[in-house]
Amino acid sequence: MPHDAEPTPLTARRAGPLRGEARVPGDKSVSHRALILGALSVGETRITGLLEGQDVLDTARAMQAFGAEVERLGEGAWSVHGVGVGGFAEPAGVIDCGNSGTGVRLIMGAMATTPIVATFTGDASLSRRPMGRITDPLRLFGAEVTARGGGLLPVTILGAADPVPVRYATPVASAQIKSAVLLAGLNAPAQTVVIEAEPTRDHTERMLAGFGATIRTEITDEGRVITLTGQPELRAHAVAVPRDPSSAAFPVAAALLVPGSETRVPGVSRNPTRDGFYVTLTEMGADLTWENEREEGGEPVADLVVRHSALRGVEVPPERAASMIDEFPILSVVAALAQGTTVMHGVAELRVKESDRIDAMARGLKANGVKVEETRDSLTVHGTGEVRGGATCLTHLDHRIAMSFLVLGMAARDPVTVDDAGPIATSFPDFLPLMRALGADIG
Ligand code: S3P
Repeated sequence: MPHDAEPTPLTARRAGPLRGEARVPGDKSVSHRALILGALSVGETRITGLLEGQDVLDTARAMQAFGAEVERLGEGAWSVHGVGVGGFAEPAGVIDCGNSGTGVRLIMGAMATTPIVATFTGDASLSRRPMGRITDPLRLFGAEVTARGGGLLPVTILGAADPVPVRYATPVASAQIKSAVLLAGLNAPAQTVVIEAEPTRDHTERMLAGFGATIRTEITDEGRVITLTGQPELRAHAVAVPRDPSSAAFPVAAALLVPGSETRVPGVSRNPTRDGFYVTLTEMGADLTWENEREEGGEPVADLVVRHSALRGVEVPPERAASMIDEFPILSVVAALAQGTTVMHGVAELRVKESDRIDAMARGLKANGVKVEETRDSLTVHGTGEVRGGATCLTHLDHRIAMSFLVLGMAARDPVTVDDAGPIATSFPDFLPLMRALGADIG
């Protein structure tokens, strides 16, 4: 999506039963990592099921700029000829990561221990998001960093010529921080250690092991201690990307909320560091059946069958936040249509996502007649089993805010409009045709 694209408003109306199969796109987190690790390995990495959303396409383009050969072979099928650990070339131009926090932060880590210069930029949303949380630990490796005031993009990094290994305790639960440090540690000698108090998604660790790195995770009193041995030769290999549980959350929520619905979502990642939304839905009384559990590309996957359910409000504990961090916007829609109060604790990180998601959801839900309270790090939604709807919600360049309010419109009494559905293309380019094929009335 070009940064200056005209806003595309969209309206969702109460739908009849949703039926059929929702083949949601490939996992965004795994897709970014497959391209980056493919670019840092020796040989050809074949990727299948890659998410072809704008965020990931921007990462693919960035990997080309750093010298990897990246080629699209067919739908979701990509080939990456890597340059090896430490082999990144200096990009000729500015690296534009668009809307993607994961893209920019992981790529900064991946280049920070190679003696080249790169300048990173992004769209208006990304340019408001904190980068100091990444550049602070990268400086410890010996990288030199210049940023706009407050540590914002554009950021220029001169990678360390003689990197030193780092031991780093992440100050907030963030897989992006953990992953940036691990990727930087690839080209540092000896062992780089990341300590996280709360577990976050572990795709980087799994995939590094798959590419042949020596990496281990120990559970200690400090939390998870992840140790990577630097300067491995990463060996290219095939990566099958599972379907994204964060994207699946939208058709799953819609099927739960629209009476008479039954939908099947095949091949969804069941990675336990990503399952908080599904655990919460089950506590709310959702009828979810996981079938055909198996492993694909180093990740557990299964087929999910979801049926319309009467839901009740629950308390979501703070220690679950990291495992469902991207699902709180759609959970707050589900909560609005459940009976009773749902309290989401420990969600301060939502304020620094593609938008301030606590603020965006609270405002949009209130405008549609829902009673909501917020604090700095919590969101409370009072559900009555019914939502009036009828309002236009601002999406603030945030794909998940846009999709959440469209799902609200599918179940509310009156239609719900989003001011701009354009950002949905960053993570779920086929959201509209997929929802319409299930029976949604969105236009
Ligand atoms: C991601 C980590 C999370 C998540 C983002 C993807 C990743 O961000 O919100 O959508 O792929 O590592 P944080 O690490 O900032 O929590």
